[in-house]
Amino acid sequence: MPALVLLGAQWGDEGKGKATDLLGGSVDYVVRYQGGNNAGHTVVVGDQKYALHLLPSGILSPTCVPVIGNGVVVDPSVLLSELSGLNERGVDTSKLMISGNAHIITPYNVTVDKVTERFLGKRKIGTTGRGIGPTYADKINRVGIRVQDLYDESILTQKVEAALDVKNQMLTKLYNRRAIAVEQVVEELLGYAEKLAPYVADTVLVLNQALEEDKVVLFEGGQGTLLDIDHGTYPFVTSSNPTAGGACTGSGVGPTKISRVIGILKAYTTRVGAGPFPTELFDADGEALRRIGGERGVTTGRDRRCGWFDAVIARYATRVNGLTDFFLTKLDVLTGWEQIPVCVAYEIDGKRVEELPYSQTDFHHAKPVYENLPGWSEDITKAKSFSDLPKNAQNYVKALEEMSGAPISAIGVGPGRDETIEVNSFL
Ligand code: IMP
Repeated sequence: MPALVLLGAQWGDEGKGKATDLLGGSVDYVVRYQGGNNAGHTVVVGDQKYALHLLPSGILSPTCVPVIGNGVVVDPSVLLSELSGLNERGVDTSKLMISGNAHIITPYNVTVDKVTERFLGKRKIGTTGRGIGPTYADKINRVGIRVQDLYDESILTQKVEAALDVKNQMLTKLYNRRAIAVEQVVEELLGYAEKLAPYVADTVLVLNQALEEDKVVLFEGGQGTLLDIDHGTYPFVTSSNPTAGGACTGSGVGPTKISRVIGILKAYTTRVGAGPFPTELFDADGEALRRIGGERGVTTGRDRRCGWFDAVIARYATRVNGLTDFFLTKLDVLTGWEQIPVCVAYEIDGKRVEELPYSQTDFHHAKPVYENLPGWSEDITKAKSFSDLPKNAQNYVKALEEMSGAPISAIGVGPGRDETIEVNSFL
């Protein structure tokens, strides 16, 4: 049963777009199962660079059906402008399918995201400000608006009323903001209904039927393992489940159907937003990783925090996702360092700890224990097979594989589509 999950093994931005795109040609469906337009994928096709936020990267492959699953939160204005941007560049987007059960990021959810962050002051999460958290909160509170609600004005009005009831009290009395008018929101949302209608589908049925017909389905996670609401560095996380289980709940495909879970792993570590990050560098090495790796957010334009590879996190990602493989990305960024430190364990209050501590306090106190691996200076961007890599680069990859607990089946050696070494095939 060829159902694969592809997800970030660290704090997101591992280069998933490239991995998905590499498989795109042989995949029939690419499904996003959580998150929204807080994600950012850069996909390079030939000399064209595409920045995708909400759409699955399979949208660029002519043979593939891109699917936005029920677990995703959809900002209709962002979706429509992303679609028209691609159409203008000649990309056919007509095959897109959107679950009628996906929740809608309403304008008031975006407002609430921004005012809440401002209110938190120095305790803020550093969200992308796209309304993700408040939309998932509404979903869990059972006052969310779903895509299917756009097609019943009376239901939509009642639901918007229910959602704004408490929020307007909060906005006016607590945050000193103006109340949001129900009619205005309903009118805006209804304005999207017709444009979205051709894409809305029973994606649960479509995907399960596709799997029965032995089609290849790829589930594409947004964000990353350590940003997972349950398994990440809570509260500095996103509000959904990027981990492998999320692929099932966010798409309506059962766990017995998933054949492979691939973790995208950057050869070093980055993070955006607030929260603990044991291997973070504040020196020239961190600056060099940021510059060489182009570590600036696709969605927010914020500089990413950078640090050395953390094997404790990689082992944890293997465990909570049941990873079968890793796709190691951006190995070329490490070219030129004489020695490359790798975090093999933490020291917490004087004790060596091999596994990620479940306690938030312990994780905040974790200091990296480094082992230095010898670096390489040769250009590796033209390497086509593992044996083309310099010996020290090979040893770096092998060491990471041994520490991380799953085989490294592909290695990214440059941003281009063809700059990838396939060690084992994913299909
Ligand atoms: P939210 O998802 O906008 O609520 O933001 C919550 C946290 O997740 C913040 O630290 C964001 O910077 C982070 N985040 C959200 N999306 C991404 C992503 O695609 N890559 C990396 N970090 C992300």
